[in-house]
Amino acid sequence: MVIIIKNKFDIEKMRIVGKITAKVLNMIQKYITPGISTGELDDICKDYIYNKKKVISACLGYQGYPKYTCISRNNVVCHGIPSYKEKLKNGDILNIDISIIKDGYFGDSSKMFIVGQCSNLAKKLCYITQKSLYEAIKIVKPNLPLRNIGKKIQKIAEKNNFSVVREYCGHGIGKNFHEEPYVLHYDDHRNKILLKEGMIFTIEPMINSGKRYIYCEKDKWTVKTKDNSLSAQYEHTILVTQTGYEVLTLRKNEKII
Ligand code: MF3
Ligand code: CO
Repeated sequence: MVIIIKNKFDIEKMRIVGKITAKVLNMIQKYITPGISTGELDDICKDYIYNKKKVISACLGYQGYPKYTCISRNNVVCHGIPSYKEKLKNGDILNIDISIIKDGYFGDSSKMFIVGQCSNLAKKLCYITQKSLYEAIKIVKPNLPLRNIGKKIQKIAEKNNFSVVREYCGHGIGKNFHEEPYVLHYDDHRNKILLKEGMIFTIEPMINSGKRYIYCEKDKWTVKTKDNSLSAQYEHTILVTQTGYEVLTLRKNEKII
């Protein structure tokens, strides 16, 4: 219905929580190694989030979600539940999705990690997914039609013979985990929304190496590709500024290129 425009105070709080969210993703990098389980990676993130940063995971308890992070490996599209039984192997690709609450404000970001050496296809999928996010971020500015974001992502994915998952989208974020505007990662000509300074939303494309179709496991969370192809996702929380954008979850050493 209504898109909440953030004020200076909100934006400062969103910068703070965004930075913490980004730091979790940098912190976990050195633990990504063959043999470690996704359950152990979740434990390490939990310890860092609660004991080091003294903040809260937005995942735990969200619609009954049982863990602190989502870890989605290979053919898992999103919402993979960390498990001590799921051990990383050389050549795996995985997404770690971190959602944090500090002072009532939410931060949300995810990235791909590669375990050892992966296939050229897996590498390309991760690269193209990140590129689609970056190219979409770079066009963000006041008065941009919101649909141009999805149009950009779809074009890059499909040019590379990959497909865009349609069942999940980016979302406005602030004092709510998910709010308007909802940001599709494919073109929807019916969407007439124009971006305005002070909007904050995520862009979080999920791109498959095969067809776009997905299904959900009996655990009600784990989403997989129907054709067992690989899936990749990158996510940032973005503020629309007077002249363009600010990436609130930008990591140290990360450049939007
Ligand atoms: N982080 C996801 C998002 O981008 C939501 C995960 S909800 C959870 O919106 F419960 F699965 F953690
Ligand atoms: Co999100």
